[in-house]
Amino acid sequence: MRLTLKVWRQKDAKSAGHFVTYDAPHVDPNMSFLEMLDVVNEGLIAQGEEPIAFDSDCREGICGTCGMVINGIAHGGLRGTTACQLHMRHFEDNQTITIEPWRARAFPVIKDLVVDRGAFDRIIQAGGFVSVNTGGTPDANTLPISKTDSDEAMDAAACIGCGACVAACKNASAMLFVSAKISHLGILPQGKPERDRRALNMVQAMDAEGFGNCTVTGSCEAVCPKEISLDFIARMNREFGRAALE
Ligand code: SF4
Ligand code: FES
Repeated sequence: MRLTLKVWRQKDAKSAGHFVTYDAPHVDPNMSFLEMLDVVNEGLIAQGEEPIAFDSDCREGICGTCGMVINGIAHGGLRGTTACQLHMRHFEDNQTITIEPWRARAFPVIKDLVVDRGAFDRIIQAGGFVSVNTGGTPDANTLPISKTDSDEAMDAAACIGCGACVAACKNASAMLFVSAKISHLGILPQGKPERDRRALNMVQAMDAEGFGNCTVTGSCEAVCPKEISLDFIARMNREFGRAALE
């Protein structure tokens, strides 16, 4: 495959960015999107140019590190798929592909396609945990959990914190992410004692970081590589409302 790439290049957080066009003449359809960028970077390094900076770690869709807007869609638009799991066979030969970083005030660009997602870490620090004394693993039978609850908690826990929901939202809302984190703990008995404090503190931290509000367009759910449901946002609103009243 031969591709034309229009890539956002930005030296650092303070510099203005711009698109640069690259020719990628030897792309194997079986490469992942990030492997394709690796090959482009090898060519740039060979020519003495600065490689394109992008984030990645696991490259198997579980760490949430990778993330870029590909042809205007966070993670590239293949349902339930991260950028690292997107393969070049889903593109056309001679296609032009535009690649940009997440765009949100709370995710400032560090360099090229790399953004600072520390805001998510600070939201988790505000309440995304269960305070218990650690020790030996308790016998599973000592704390029965219904199948419905365990399934729902596991669905929420699938969130990998990639930030695509924020990038896709016109308000840069982080509510899908925060609702998943509040729900996967609050549904289980171990997380219930702190559920009120968790909901209040995490929502407050989310607002303080500058994320916008949800207007239920569903763009977050559409791009989420773990297909986190909008239902969790409704659940978080109920959780927050009850905690605020109490
Ligand atoms: S809710 Fe989905 S899109 Fe948002 S951070 Fe979690 S996995 Fe990524
Ligand atoms: S690199 Fe880990 S999810 Fe993509």
